[in-house]
Amino acid sequence: MLKVGLLGYGRTGKIVAEYLNIQRDVALKFVLKNTPFKHPNLNIYTHFDLGDAIEQHKPDVLIDFTVRDATIANLAVLSEIEYKKGIVIATTGFSNEEIEIMKAYTKKFSIIWAPNISSGINLLIRAAMIINEVWKDADVHIIEEHFRQKKDVSGTALRIRDRLGRGEIVSVRSGGTVGVHKLIFGRENQKIELTHKSHSRYVFAAGALRVARWLTTAKRGFYRMEDYIDSQLSYSHGGMEED
Ligand SMILES: NC(=O)c1ccc[n+]([C@@H]2O[C@H](COP(=O)([O-])OP(=O)(O)OC[C@H]3O[C@@H](n4cnc5c(N)ncnc54)[C@H](OP(=O)(O)O)[C@@H]3O)[C@@H](O)[C@H]2O)c1
Repeated sequence: MLKVGLLGYGRTGKIVAEYLNIQRDVALKFVLKNTPFKHPNLNIYTHFDLGDAIEQHKPDVLIDFTVRDATIANLAVLSEIEYKKGIVIATTGFSNEEIEIMKAYTKKFSIIWAPNISSGINLLIRAAMIINEVWKDADVHIIEEHFRQKKDVSGTALRIRDRLGRGEIVSVRSGGTVGVHKLIFGRENQKIELTHKSHSRYVFAAGALRVARWLTTAKRGFYRMEDYIDSQLSYSHGGMEED
C-alpha cells in the first residue's frame, strides 16, 4: 500500500484526491490546505500542521498541487523536520531562483519537479526533439487550443518552443476545449504532425500517482519529467502504462 500525503486541495487537488481514493493499493493519508476544512472521509490539516501530519501518517511520498509560495514554505518545513522521502511538485510558476532553492533541498529528500505531469505531453516533446534535430530546415508551428476564457499563452506551448529552440506559437480559443497541443513540422515535400489531447480530468492525477510511485524507487535527487520518461524508455518490462 502506497501511503500518500497530498498538499493542496483546490481545483486540481480535489480531482487528485478523488483519483487516489479509488486506487486499491493507495492510501491517501492526509490532505494539506491553507484554510481549515472538515471532510467526512479525509484527514485535512492546515499548512501550520504539516510536521504533525507527516509524523502521524508517515507517508511514502508527497504530491504537491498548491501555489508556488506555499511549495517553497512547505519545503522549508520538510527540511526542518528531517523528512527523508520524496515529493512530486506539480505546482507551477517558479522562478529560476526558486528552482535552485528546490534543488538545494534534495540533499535531504527527493524532488521531481513536474510543471506538466502528463506523460503524453512529455512524450510529445521527446518525439518532437528528435524530429527537430533531423529536420533542421522544417517550418515549425505549435498550435495550442484551449477554452474560450483562457487569456495567457499555454505554458506547455512555451515549454515546447523552449525545448525546440524555435517554433511559431498559434493560440486558438474555442468553446470549452480542455487542451490540445499540435506540432507541425513542414518541409518542401512532406510534413509531420504530432497532436496531444487531454480528454480526461484525471490526466494530472494519474500522472502524479505514476510519477510518485517512480520517485519512491529512485535514488535521492532532483528530477524532471524527462528523467522519468528516460527511465521508462530504458526499462525492458514493456514500457509505460497509460495515464
Ligand atoms: N503539473 C501539472 O501538470 C499541473 C496540472 C494542473 C495544475 N497544476 C498546478 O497545480 C497548482 C494548483 O492548481 P489548482 O488549480 O488546484 O489551484 P487552486 O484551486 O488555487 O488550489 C490551490 C490549493 O493550494 C492550497 N494552499 C495554499 N497555500 C497552501 C499551503 N501553504 N499549504 C498547503 N496548501 C496550500 C489552497 O488551500 P485552500 O483550499 O485552503 O485555499 C488550495 O487548496 C497550480 O500551480 C497549477 O498550475 C499543475
